[in-house]
Amino acid sequence: MSVREQQVTLAGRPVRCLEAGEGEPILLVHAFPLGADLWRPQLAAPPPGWRLLAPDLRGFRGPAEAQGDVAPLGEVTVDDYARDLVALLDHLGVARAVVGGVSMGGYVAFALLRQAPDRVRALVLSDTRPQADGDEGRAKRREMLALIERGGMEAVAGAMLPALVGRTSQTERPEVVAEVRRLVLANHPEAVRAAVSAMMTRPDSTPLLAAIACPTLVVVGEEDVITPVPDATALHDAIPGSRLAVLPEAGHLPNLETPDAFDAVLTRFLAERVA
Ligand code: MLT
Repeated sequence: MSVREQQVTLAGRPVRCLEAGEGEPILLVHAFPLGADLWRPQLAAPPPGWRLLAPDLRGFRGPAEAQGDVAPLGEVTVDDYARDLVALLDHLGVARAVVGGVSMGGYVAFALLRQAPDRVRALVLSDTRPQADGDEGRAKRREMLALIERGGMEAVAGAMLPALVGRTSQTERPEVVAEVRRLVLANHPEAVRAAVSAMMTRPDSTPLLAAIACPTLVVVGEEDVITPVPDATALHDAIPGSRLAVLPEAGHLPNLETPDAFDAVLTRFLAERVA
Protein backbone atom coordinates (compact mmCIF):
# COMPACT_ATOMS: atom_id res chain seq x y z
CA MET A 1 0.00 0.00 0.00
CA SER A 2 1.45 3.36 -0.93
CA VAL A 3 1.74 5.96 1.82
CA ARG A 4 0.70 9.48 0.86
CA GLU A 5 2.32 12.44 2.55
CA GLN A 6 1.14 16.02 2.79
CA GLN A 7 2.26 19.19 4.54
CA VAL A 8 -0.50 21.13 6.24
CA THR A 9 -0.06 24.51 7.92
CA LEU A 10 -1.47 24.37 11.46
CA ALA A 11 -1.05 27.25 13.93
CA GLY A 12 1.34 28.83 11.42
CA ARG A 13 3.63 25.79 11.25
CA PRO A 14 4.09 23.11 8.60
CA VAL A 15 2.88 19.73 9.86
CA ARG A 16 3.47 16.46 8.03
CA CYS A 17 0.56 14.05 7.78
CA LEU A 18 1.03 10.49 6.48
CA GLU A 19 -2.01 8.84 4.98
CA ALA A 20 -2.95 5.44 3.57
CA GLY A 21 -6.10 3.54 2.63
CA GLU A 22 -9.57 4.69 1.62
CA GLY A 23 -12.77 4.90 3.64
CA GLU A 24 -13.69 5.88 7.17
CA PRO A 25 -10.99 7.93 8.93
CA ILE A 26 -8.76 6.77 11.77
CA LEU A 27 -6.53 9.45 13.28
CA LEU A 28 -3.35 7.92 14.74
CA VAL A 29 -1.32 9.87 17.31
CA HIS A 30 2.29 8.90 17.98
CA ALA A 31 4.21 8.30 21.21
CA PHE A 32 7.15 10.23 22.69
CA PRO A 33 9.85 10.82 21.45
CA LEU A 34 8.85 9.42 18.06
CA GLY A 35 6.96 10.84 15.10
CA ALA A 36 4.22 9.77 12.72
CA ASP A 37 6.55 7.11 11.25
CA LEU A 38 5.76 5.02 14.34
CA TRP A 39 2.63 4.07 12.38
CA ARG A 40 4.45 2.80 9.23
CA PRO A 41 3.48 -0.86 9.85
CA GLN A 42 -0.23 0.07 9.94
CA LEU A 43 0.12 2.51 7.02
CA ALA A 44 1.62 -0.32 4.95
CA ALA A 45 -1.54 -2.41 5.39
CA PRO A 46 -4.58 -0.34 6.43
CA PRO A 47 -7.70 -2.26 7.46
CA PRO A 48 -9.93 -2.56 4.37
CA GLY A 49 -12.48 0.28 4.27
CA TRP A 50 -10.46 2.55 6.56
CA ARG A 51 -8.33 5.62 5.85
CA LEU A 52 -5.39 6.09 8.20
CA LEU A 53 -4.22 9.62 9.03
CA ALA A 54 -0.96 9.86 10.98
CA PRO A 55 0.26 13.41 11.65
CA ASP A 56 3.42 14.51 13.43
CA LEU A 57 2.69 16.42 16.61
CA ARG A 58 3.95 20.02 16.66
CA GLY A 59 7.69 20.15 15.83
CA PHE A 60 8.10 16.38 15.31
CA ARG A 61 9.17 15.20 11.88
CA GLY A 62 10.21 12.25 9.79
CA PRO A 63 13.69 10.97 9.04
CA ALA A 64 13.73 12.59 5.58
CA GLU A 65 13.29 16.04 7.11
CA ALA A 66 15.74 15.50 9.94
CA GLN A 67 17.98 18.29 8.79
CA GLY A 68 18.06 21.91 9.84
CA ASP A 69 16.41 23.63 12.73
CA VAL A 70 12.97 23.71 14.31
CA ALA A 71 11.71 27.19 15.19
CA PRO A 72 11.30 27.67 18.96
CA LEU A 73 7.99 26.15 20.04
CA GLY A 74 7.55 27.93 23.36
CA GLU A 75 5.41 26.29 26.02
CA VAL A 76 3.21 23.63 24.42
CA THR A 77 0.38 21.76 26.13
CA VAL A 78 -1.49 18.57 25.30
CA ASP A 79 -4.44 20.88 24.57
CA ASP A 80 -2.35 22.65 21.90
CA TYR A 81 -1.61 19.29 20.32
CA ALA A 82 -5.33 18.43 20.42
CA ARG A 83 -6.23 21.81 18.87
CA ASP A 84 -3.79 21.08 16.04
CA LEU A 85 -5.50 17.74 15.45
CA VAL A 86 -8.96 19.34 15.36
CA ALA A 87 -7.58 21.88 12.86
CA LEU A 88 -6.16 19.00 10.82
CA LEU A 89 -9.56 17.24 10.77
CA ASP A 90 -11.18 20.53 9.71
CA HIS A 91 -8.59 20.99 6.96
CA LEU A 92 -9.22 17.46 5.70
CA GLY A 93 -13.01 17.84 5.91
CA VAL A 94 -13.26 15.00 8.43
CA ALA A 95 -16.21 15.42 10.82
CA ARG A 96 -15.53 12.39 13.04
CA ALA A 97 -12.72 9.88 13.30
CA VAL A 98 -11.68 6.86 15.27
CA VAL A 99 -8.84 8.27 17.38
CA GLY A 100 -5.93 6.03 18.29
CA GLY A 101 -2.97 7.03 20.44
CA VAL A 102 0.09 5.30 21.84
CA SER A 103 1.26 6.56 25.24
CA MET A 104 1.72 10.35 24.77
CA GLY A 105 -0.68 9.92 21.82
CA GLY A 106 -3.21 8.63 24.36
CA TYR A 107 -2.72 11.75 26.52
CA VAL A 108 -3.53 13.80 23.41
CA ALA A 109 -6.54 11.58 22.62
CA PHE A 110 -7.91 12.36 26.12
CA ALA A 111 -7.38 16.10 25.45
CA LEU A 112 -9.19 15.77 22.12
CA LEU A 113 -12.05 13.99 23.83
CA ARG A 114 -12.30 16.84 26.36
CA GLN A 115 -12.18 19.52 23.66
CA ALA A 116 -14.27 18.03 20.90
CA PRO A 117 -16.04 14.81 21.98
CA ASP A 118 -18.31 14.96 18.92
CA ARG A 119 -15.26 14.47 16.66
CA VAL A 120 -14.34 11.14 18.32
CA ARG A 121 -16.16 8.13 16.89
CA ALA A 122 -14.20 5.51 18.82
CA LEU A 123 -10.99 5.31 20.83
CA VAL A 124 -7.94 3.06 20.66
CA LEU A 125 -5.76 3.65 23.73
CA SER A 126 -2.46 1.82 23.51
CA ASP A 127 0.07 1.69 26.35
CA THR A 128 -1.15 4.87 27.97
CA ARG A 129 -2.59 6.11 31.25
CA PRO A 130 -5.12 8.79 32.23
CA GLN A 131 -3.36 10.14 35.33
CA ALA A 132 -1.30 13.33 35.36
CA ASP A 133 2.35 13.17 36.42
CA GLY A 134 2.94 13.02 40.17
CA ASP A 135 5.90 14.60 41.97
CA GLU A 136 8.21 11.72 41.08
CA GLY A 137 7.10 11.82 37.45
CA ARG A 138 7.70 15.56 37.22
CA ALA A 139 11.17 15.14 38.77
CA LYS A 140 11.97 12.58 36.03
CA ARG A 141 10.72 15.03 33.41
CA ARG A 142 13.12 17.67 34.75
CA GLU A 143 15.95 15.12 34.48
CA MET A 144 14.88 14.47 30.88
CA LEU A 145 14.93 18.20 30.11
CA ALA A 146 18.47 18.41 31.50
CA LEU A 147 19.49 15.35 29.47
CA ILE A 148 18.13 16.88 26.25
CA GLU A 149 20.06 20.09 26.98
CA ARG A 150 23.27 18.19 27.77
CA GLY A 151 23.29 15.33 25.30
CA GLY A 152 20.68 15.99 22.60
CA MET A 153 18.81 13.19 20.85
CA GLU A 154 21.64 10.62 21.19
CA ALA A 155 21.34 10.88 24.96
CA VAL A 156 17.53 10.67 24.80
CA ALA A 157 17.73 7.55 22.62
CA GLY A 158 20.24 5.95 24.99
CA ALA A 159 18.07 6.65 28.02
CA MET A 160 14.72 5.65 26.52
CA LEU A 161 15.35 2.70 24.21
CA PRO A 162 15.68 0.08 26.95
CA ALA A 163 12.19 0.99 28.22
CA LEU A 164 10.47 1.72 24.93
CA VAL A 165 10.68 -1.78 23.50
CA GLY A 166 9.99 -5.03 25.35
CA ARG A 167 12.53 -7.68 26.36
CA THR A 168 11.61 -9.90 23.41
CA SER A 169 12.34 -7.07 20.97
CA GLN A 170 15.55 -6.26 22.87
CA THR A 171 16.82 -9.80 22.51
CA GLU A 172 15.24 -11.12 19.31
CA ARG A 173 14.34 -8.18 17.08
CA PRO A 174 17.42 -6.03 16.46
CA GLU A 175 15.66 -4.47 13.45
CA VAL A 176 12.88 -3.13 15.72
CA VAL A 177 15.40 -1.65 18.16
CA ALA A 178 17.28 -0.05 15.24
CA GLU A 179 14.05 1.38 13.80
CA VAL A 180 12.95 2.90 17.13
CA ARG A 181 16.41 4.42 17.55
CA ARG A 182 16.22 5.87 14.02
CA LEU A 183 12.79 7.36 14.75
CA VAL A 184 14.01 8.93 18.00
CA LEU A 185 17.13 10.41 16.37
CA ALA A 186 15.03 11.91 13.54
CA ASN A 187 13.50 14.42 15.92
CA HIS A 188 14.83 17.79 16.91
CA PRO A 189 15.57 18.41 20.61
CA GLU A 190 13.24 21.44 20.54
CA ALA A 191 10.21 19.27 19.64
CA VAL A 192 11.16 16.76 22.30
CA ARG A 193 11.70 19.46 24.95
CA ALA A 194 8.27 20.93 24.17
CA ALA A 195 6.67 17.47 24.42
CA VAL A 196 8.24 16.87 27.83
CA SER A 197 6.78 20.11 29.12
CA ALA A 198 3.39 19.28 27.54
CA MET A 199 3.36 15.89 29.27
CA MET A 200 4.43 17.21 32.66
CA THR A 201 1.65 19.82 32.70
CA ARG A 202 -1.11 17.58 31.37
CA PRO A 203 -4.27 17.40 33.47
CA ASP A 204 -5.64 14.29 35.11
CA SER A 205 -8.00 12.60 32.63
CA THR A 206 -9.33 10.07 35.15
CA PRO A 207 -12.59 12.04 35.68
CA LEU A 208 -13.37 11.60 31.96
CA LEU A 209 -13.30 7.84 31.92
CA ALA A 210 -16.68 6.86 33.40
CA ALA A 211 -18.46 9.10 30.88
CA ILE A 212 -16.72 7.77 27.75
CA ALA A 213 -19.61 6.59 25.63
CA CYS A 214 -17.85 5.69 22.39
CA PRO A 215 -16.51 2.20 21.61
CA THR A 216 -13.05 1.91 23.19
CA LEU A 217 -10.20 -0.55 22.75
CA VAL A 218 -7.44 -0.60 25.35
CA VAL A 219 -4.23 -2.26 24.13
CA VAL A 220 -1.06 -3.03 26.04
CA GLY A 221 2.14 -4.93 25.35
CA GLU A 222 2.57 -7.66 27.96
CA GLU A 223 6.23 -6.60 28.43
CA ASP A 224 5.52 -2.86 28.73
CA VAL A 225 7.53 -1.44 31.65
CA ILE A 226 6.40 2.21 31.19
CA THR A 227 2.63 1.66 31.32
CA PRO A 228 2.44 -1.95 32.46
CA VAL A 229 -0.51 -4.35 32.16
CA PRO A 230 -2.12 -3.38 35.52
CA ASP A 231 -2.38 0.23 34.25
CA ALA A 232 -4.19 -0.99 31.13
CA THR A 233 -6.46 -3.23 33.18
CA ALA A 234 -7.40 -0.29 35.42
CA LEU A 235 -8.06 1.87 32.34
CA HIS A 236 -10.24 -0.85 30.83
CA ASP A 237 -12.14 -1.28 34.13
CA ALA A 238 -12.80 2.47 34.30
CA ILE A 239 -14.19 2.84 30.75
CA PRO A 240 -17.68 1.35 30.45
CA GLY A 241 -17.96 -1.35 27.79
CA SER A 242 -14.32 -1.10 26.73
CA ARG A 243 -12.38 -4.02 25.32
CA LEU A 244 -8.88 -4.99 26.52
CA ALA A 245 -6.16 -6.66 24.44
CA VAL A 246 -2.89 -7.74 26.06
CA LEU A 247 -0.33 -8.48 23.35
CA PRO A 248 2.36 -11.05 24.15
CA GLU A 249 6.04 -10.46 23.33
CA ALA A 250 5.51 -6.69 22.93
CA GLY A 251 6.62 -3.81 25.12
CA HIS A 252 5.54 -0.15 25.09
CA LEU A 253 5.17 0.03 21.29
CA PRO A 254 3.14 -3.04 20.26
CA ASN A 255 2.00 -1.54 16.95
CA LEU A 256 5.67 -1.51 15.88
CA GLU A 257 6.97 -4.53 17.81
CA THR A 258 4.20 -7.02 16.98
CA PRO A 259 2.28 -5.27 14.18
CA ASP A 260 0.41 -8.39 13.01
CA ALA A 261 -1.07 -8.95 16.48
CA PHE A 262 -1.83 -5.23 16.88
CA ASP A 263 -3.50 -5.05 13.45
CA ALA A 264 -5.56 -8.16 14.18
CA VAL A 265 -7.06 -6.73 17.40
CA LEU A 266 -7.60 -3.35 15.75
CA THR A 267 -9.33 -4.86 12.70
CA ARG A 268 -11.54 -7.05 14.89
CA PHE A 269 -12.49 -4.10 17.12
CA LEU A 270 -13.36 -1.96 14.10
CA ALA A 271 -15.48 -4.73 12.55
CA GLU A 272 -17.28 -5.77 15.73
CA ARG A 273 -17.65 -2.51 17.65
CA VAL A 274 -17.36 0.44 15.26
CA ALA A 275 -18.36 -0.28 11.65
C1 MLT B 1 5.55 7.81 25.47
O1 MLT B 1 5.87 6.71 25.04
O2 MLT B 1 4.81 8.56 24.80
C2 MLT B 1 6.08 8.25 26.80
O3 MLT B 1 6.70 7.18 27.42
C3 MLT B 1 4.99 8.81 27.66
C4 MLT B 1 5.52 9.38 28.95
O4 MLT B 1 6.74 9.59 29.09
O5 MLT B 1 4.70 9.65 29.84
